[in-house]
Amino acid sequence: MKMHIPEDNPQYKALKREIIRYRRKPGPLIQVLHRAQEIFGYLPPEVQFFVAKELNVPLSSVYGVVTFYNFFRTEPVARHIINICMGTACHVKGAANVAEALSKELGIKIGETTEDKMFTLSTARCFGACGLAPVMMINDEVYGKLTPERAVEIVKKYREEHGGA
Ligand code: FES
Repeated sequence: MKMHIPEDNPQYKALKREIIRYRRKPGPLIQVLHRAQEIFGYLPPEVQFFVAKELNVPLSSVYGVVTFYNFFRTEPVARHIINICMGTACHVKGAANVAEALSKELGIKIGETTEDKMFTLSTARCFGACGLAPVMMINDEVYGKLTPERAVEIVKKYREEHGGA
C-alpha cells in the first residue's frame, strides 16, 4: 500500500520521536498508539500506516489493536487539537502555567474536548523545538516562546480564524 506521509510535518516528527523512545522497549505498539492519539487526536489510516512502517510491524497488527481497544479512535472528536509540550525544556519554562491558562480559557481539562467540538486539549513530550520553549502545537502549527497570556490569545485568534462558536 502506498500512502503519502508528510514526514516534515511537526506532528509526524513528534510521533517519530516517541517511536524512537519506545522502539527498544518490549511491546511498544500500544504505547506508541496512545502517544499518536495524543498528538493527532485520533488515529487515521495514514498514522496507522506510519506507526506500522516505523515499528516494522504489519499494518494488520496495528489495525487489529486499534479496533480491539475502545480507547482508540479512528475519527476525530474535535476539529482542532492543541498539544502543549510537557518535555523538560518546556516544563522548566512554565508549560504547566500555559496548560492551566488554556484549560481555564476553554473550560476543559487536559484530554477533554470543548462542547462545540472545536478543540481537544492534549499534552505531548518534546516537539524538538526546545529552543522555543515553552511550545504548543495547534494541529501541525508550532507556537513557541509562549506565556499563558499569549497562548490564550493564539487560541482565541485561532477560533476566530477557523470558525466555531
Ligand atoms: S521540551 Fe518542549 S519542545 Fe523540547
